[in-house]
Amino acid sequence: MKKFLALSGLYVGAVIFQTALAGPGKTVNEPDSVYLFSYGTEKNGGRNGLHFAWSRDKEKWFSIGSEYGFVRSDYGRWGAEKRMHTPYVFRRPNGVWQAVWSLNDREPLFAHSASPDLVYWGRQSYPMVQGSANVLRPVVQYEAKSGNYAITYADAWGKYYRVTTKDFKAFSSATEVPAAQYRDNSQKVTLPEGNATGQVHRVAWAEVDRLVKTYEQKQFKSSQYSETMAQDAQRFAGLKPVEAKITIEATKAKPISDLLVGVFFEDLNYAADGGLYAELVQNRGFEYSPNDKEGHDKSWTSTHSWSLKGENTSFTVETAAPVHPNNPHYAVLETKAPGAALVNAGFDGISVKKGERYNLSLFTRHLQGKSAKLEVRLVSEKEGVLAKTTLNAPAGNWKKLTAVLTPNKTAADARLELQPLTEGKLALDMVSLFPQQTFKGRKNGLRADLAQTIADLKPRFVRFPGGCVAHGDGLENIYHWKNTIGPLEARKPQRNLWGYHQSLGLGYFEYFQFCEDIGARPVPVVAAGVPCQNSGSGPHGGGQQGGIPMSEMDEYVQDVLDLVEYANGDVTTKWGKKRAEAGHPKPFNLKYIGVGNEDLITDVFEERFAMIYKALKEKHPEITVIGTVGPFSEGTDYVEGWDIADKMGLAMVDEHYYQPPGWFIHNQDYYDRYDRTKSKVYLGEYAAHLPGRPNNLETALSEALYLTSVERNGDVVHMTSYAPLLAKEGHTQWNPDLIYFNNTEVKPTVGYEVQKLFGQNAGSEYLPSTVSLSNTQEAVTKRVAVSVVRDPKSKDVILKMVNLLPVTVTSSVDLKGLGSFNGKATRTVLQGNPADKLLKPTKTIVALADLSNTELPAYSCTIIRLKSK
Ligand code: AHR
Repeated sequence: MKKFLALSGLYVGAVIFQTALAGPGKTVNEPDSVYLFSYGTEKNGGRNGLHFAWSRDKEKWFSIGSEYGFVRSDYGRWGAEKRMHTPYVFRRPNGVWQAVWSLNDREPLFAHSASPDLVYWGRQSYPMVQGSANVLRPVVQYEAKSGNYAITYADAWGKYYRVTTKDFKAFSSATEVPAAQYRDNSQKVTLPEGNATGQVHRVAWAEVDRLVKTYEQKQFKSSQYSETMAQDAQRFAGLKPVEAKITIEATKAKPISDLLVGVFFEDLNYAADGGLYAELVQNRGFEYSPNDKEGHDKSWTSTHSWSLKGENTSFTVETAAPVHPNNPHYAVLETKAPGAALVNAGFDGISVKKGERYNLSLFTRHLQGKSAKLEVRLVSEKEGVLAKTTLNAPAGNWKKLTAVLTPNKTAADARLELQPLTEGKLALDMVSLFPQQTFKGRKNGLRADLAQTIADLKPRFVRFPGGCVAHGDGLENIYHWKNTIGPLEARKPQRNLWGYHQSLGLGYFEYFQFCEDIGARPVPVVAAGVPCQNSGSGPHGGGQQGGIPMSEMDEYVQDVLDLVEYANGDVTTKWGKKRAEAGHPKPFNLKYIGVGNEDLITDVFEERFAMIYKALKEKHPEITVIGTVGPFSEGTDYVEGWDIADKMGLAMVDEHYYQPPGWFIHNQDYYDRYDRTKSKVYLGEYAAHLPGRPNNLETALSEALYLTSVERNGDVVHMTSYAPLLAKEGHTQWNPDLIYFNNTEVKPTVGYEVQKLFGQNAGSEYLPSTVSLSNTQEAVTKRVAVSVVRDPKSKDVILKMVNLLPVTVTSSVDLKGLGSFNGKATRTVLQGNPADKLLKPTKTIVALADLSNTELPAYSCTIIRLKSK
């Protein structure tokens, strides 16, 4: 409590007030009611949310938190929007609090949210009004006679308007009203922080008390969550090595999910094009567009990564009669005298290996009546020409030409050069260079070293294509799986909301194929009929929750049903046939579909989600539909998402949370608290985030610690995936990630090592254990965790022991009743300093007898695998 007081002057104010009234330690003689002031400020562009202060006499005010935001606006893009201007709070006669606020001065909408207690604020809605171009300073009155609420507001030109509603869902159209009808009850109040304008309410003391306690609890939790290992020297000064006695209760074994560790793949950080997708030519289809970039980048065009070397040839981009309408742009080289070449720079250069074979392909046609010759070369600045071939471009229609290039030297700086050897006008499109040595030798396949690094995790499932990429930035950016299958030239490339381009060469077929190749279940995630909650308004689409129009929802729902047919349908079905044509007549055995990605839970969302869910349940009861409960481990979307899950009886929901290590340490009981009868959980995105966002031993061990609690709750948590998975050096929009890479190297992080330890040592049976420590301080006990599982196939018993303390923990494990094992066990230890980034676990063989005295080094994760006889 002392800490609370130090944190908050306001609470001190509250306590002094109570003490003065009731004497120390007592809370009798509290007033029945006090004044509560609700207000917002324009600080931080109006993004700090709704604040409260209270007073006994309207003279002396106590702020509840210093401008602490009890609810914040969720409208529009992070950074640019999320503004709450002039919040207006009032209480309906039924006791429910209502808040309306203005969002910006450009759009004809305002925001609304309601709360039973001023602490929990429900779904936000952004009603659009007709008749004015914007909505400023909205205020609300209740009209008892009609039972209507009237919202009056100004516009930027000083006119006033009024709309009415009974339920804040359906609104009348706006009518212009005289200024006198605009009745704003806001008052100016002097707070410790300065003057503010808002509404003054008379409320029961208990309501203020609840707000104060809420604020104090948040402060307390955030002080816990900000604990880092850098403070350990102080926190654990003088701490002696700890002894741990581990008792395993084999008779209480329970089944747990055998899919616990999987991967989350999203085309973010150049994870697909330039990354896992093995294509070496950048912008092969000449489809880059300034619109791929938020700021409409003028250098990001059809010619990006292409240049002309030499003279007497021009390079233009044309669109008449393209290879395919989905790929409208192509290059035209007009050569007056041969000598110049069109050059592709690849993704940071093209990296090739001596003696390996590379498949070249391109579409071409000579536009001037006769065929033409074209030389194609791989050229390194340092090593010279590495390989070359000559092709014959036909006159007339487009033709796909292919060849194999075999470099005579290894180089990381190669470029692909296309040099017409004939005068005239040569059209070129879909210029592609692929290593033959892709992962499992697949055509149009994946980079072997990266794919293998993912496979080594032994992921039980792969989630794709995101993340935000799945639901997109605005309606036009929603990821449609049908655009990503079939011949490459017929796929429909699109803007990547992370600020680049998706060729969609890595599409649904390739995702399914990869899953099969690594023995993982496919978990596609489709948009729930709404785009990302951070969608911008303006040129990039429908904006916040601008759901797919109802008139188009049937078609969208059908697309989702067709996805199941594409994955699982017989070859005689329309979509099953397409899968067979792509080379996979057998079904892909799809069992899960995620609908929605951490969406803002609104009425717009719920209506569309319910349509998709119902259709899937009716047509494909065999598919487990995974719902979504927002981007955080608590809060409105989490609560509302779970409400929907309960109401609809969803089998599973997708939870996301990125939290500091302290959160993971202090929330190991997060799933212990879950109701076993409700939906199962897919923890679809999580990671420990430290300031500066490193992936180091500190973050990795806090994830490991938490994963032991997830295994304990493997009856509730069905799947987990750390996010994001991949990041290309120099093209990273998000940190930390699990695997960094460049064109020639793959650099797994220490977090990857933890995922691998858990992936390779998973089980389907959990054996409860108790850990009794020689030191019982909470800070110590929360930093040592153990989980014991049994592998269903080998019957091996696996102990995972995580020590986040700066001292050794000497553990003794009692193996009685567990089964019979080989005399030798494997012991794998990941250890180091909290800031270490490049660590690999070491593996040793230990005698079973030695397990009665196993050292868990400071800052370590130890896996002991007992080999079943
Ligand atoms: O994992 C990166 C991003 O984090 C995902 O795209 C999104 O779902 C989440 O906010």
